[in-house]
Amino acid sequence: MSSVGVVGTGTMATGIVEVFAKAGHDVLLRGRTTEKAQAAVGAVQKSLDRAVKKGRLSEADRDTILARVTPTAALEDFSTVDLVVEAVAEDLEVKRSVFTTLDEVCKPGAILATTTSSLPVVECAAATKRPGDVVGLHFFNPAPVMKLVEIVHTVSTDADVIATAQKLCLDLKKVPVHCGDRAGFIVNALLFPYLNDAVSMLEAHYASADDIDTAMRLGCRLPMGPFQLLDVVGLDVSLAIEKTLYNEFRDAGLAPAPLLEHLVTAGRLGRKTGKGFRDYS
Ligand SMILES: NC(=O)c1ccc[n+]([C@@H]2O[C@H](COP(=O)([O-])OP(=O)(O)OC[C@H]3O[C@@H](n4cnc5c(N)ncnc54)[C@H](O)[C@@H]3O)[C@@H](O)[C@H]2O)c1
Repeated sequence: MSSVGVVGTGTMATGIVEVFAKAGHDVLLRGRTTEKAQAAVGAVQKSLDRAVKKGRLSEADRDTILARVTPTAALEDFSTVDLVVEAVAEDLEVKRSVFTTLDEVCKPGAILATTTSSLPVVECAAATKRPGDVVGLHFFNPAPVMKLVEIVHTVSTDADVIATAQKLCLDLKKVPVHCGDRAGFIVNALLFPYLNDAVSMLEAHYASADDIDTAMRLGCRLPMGPFQLLDVVGLDVSLAIEKTLYNEFRDAGLAPAPLLEHLVTAGRLGRKTGKGFRDYS
């Protein structure tokens, strides 16, 4: 599998582009406009520049990796790629429309993957006439650093597509795990009820965000407390995941904490907007 297309210009898309380019793949990065696509390549460059500064990457290697990435505004350019990873906003209608177009433009046998955190992968598959080729490749944030990839098979995914996805993840030096197509997959189904409980605890003035973060870091030896993690993941993405868990399992305890909804409404989405539970400006 040599050429890859990534749809999206956000946190996950740019991280995933970096992962594939580092592993030697040619990557087409598609944004809704040429400017967005170019800015996303700029974000990949920034990340590589940081690695150079830290002495983890030579300048020559950075230039080689960057040369593999081509920005585009046209999904039609994906007609020759072997794999597409869709990483646009966590919105089913947006994703379905991307998959319908991919189905029209991609060559037969291309694997069409989504990195959705919480939406049913089968919905993306059903937006195409090739549901057997659609699979979930759930990368974690930041994609260049995090080793885990959840490979999500729907009721329609072909076995050879799952096998190719497994081999691909190993080639990318990731650690794949497999699961079915259920809200939250493995990690988020266990993680987000906990994060939501932390927001409810803060909302009830039971403890401060700093104390809750410190307690979970030191008490459970976690690298980050819940509010640090929510701000990294993005509060809009987190809210979408919690809503999906709630809608699928209908458990009242899974209803998103109102404070999370209010912060999202106020545009405080975490680190990516400079403000979330904390102020990074
Ligand atoms: N943030 C995480 O920790 C994380 C982890 C794993 C997977 N994901 C998943 O990755 C995907 C992207 O998340 P992200 O964190 O990169 O979000 P983000 O907000 O950083 O980026 C979203 C991208 O979608 C694009 N977009 C928005 N509306 C669009 C539309 N109507 N048509 C086409 N593109 C549109 C935006 O321009 C942007 O490029 C989501 O499905 C999310 O669930 C996120």
